[in-house]
This record gives sequence, C-alpha cells and structure tokens, in this order.
Amino acid sequence: MALAERISMSLEKDLCVKLDQMVRKGKAANRSEFIRDLIRAQIVEEEWSRDEDAVGAITLVYDHHANGLPARLTEIQHGYHQEILSSTHVHLDHDMCVEMLLARGRAGRLKEIADRLKGMKGVLHAQLSMSTTGKQLKKHNHNH
Ligand code: NI
Repeated sequence: MALAERISMSLEKDLCVKLDQMVRKGKAANRSEFIRDLIRAQIVEEEWSRDEDAVGAITLVYDHHANGLPARLTEIQHGYHQEILSSTHVHLDHDMCVEMLLARGRAGRLKEIADRLKGMKGVLHAQLSMSTTGKQLKKHNHNH
C-alpha cells in the first residue's frame, strides 16, 4: 500500500457544490478520488507535452471502396511497425470499416501517426486517444 499524505484544502463554496455534484453523478467514488483523477490526468497531459513514452489508441472510420485507401493505410502503418502494437479491423457494413490501432512510443511520434492517417483522403473520422504507459501513475511502495 502506498504511503498516503493527508492534506486539507480550502475550496470556494460553489466549487465545492460542483465537486459534490460530480461525485454524486458517479464521476468518481468520492472527493479524494476525484482530485486524484485530475492529478493523474494532468500527469498524462504533461507526458504528452514533453514528448515522453506514451500509449495511444487511434480510431479510423473509412469506406474501403475509396480508391486504394486500404493499401495506403496499410503502407503508412508498416512505416510505424515499431510503434503500432495491434490493429483491429471491423467491417461495420457493406461499405464502412472501423480500425483501431493501439500504439506505444514517443508522444510526438504517435501524434504523427494519427495525423498522417487522418490526412488520408477517404478517412471520414479519425480520433487519437492519448493515454499513458502508467509508469508515473504507479503507487510506489517505499518499503522495498
Ligand atoms: Ni472492413
């Protein structure tokens, strides 16, 4: 179990009301967990802004009839074979495909992959979800 530091903080009444509303809506188990989530989200945001080792999921939606698009998408992905860990392709209907790539590498490199795929003519929607290797979120055990 990680050592816990107890802190107290002051918060304007209206912010405190909002905090409790968000907790009641189920955004976190309690006030403390809500604040922890915010801090962790900030840590991940900083990892991305400092171009650190990161994890990202890229979702692409496209019509596979678009001229040469599947081959061009595959070509780009092969150029990043060291970053792309997995690729899941689902045929949504007769025309549309969704592809989900899980990638790990320098944050800037992951953004580059997403931008290049997004920029392909025929890709109708592309989304990069910026996540983390979790290294900086681990609960350290100071007893070892
Ligand atoms: Ni398909």
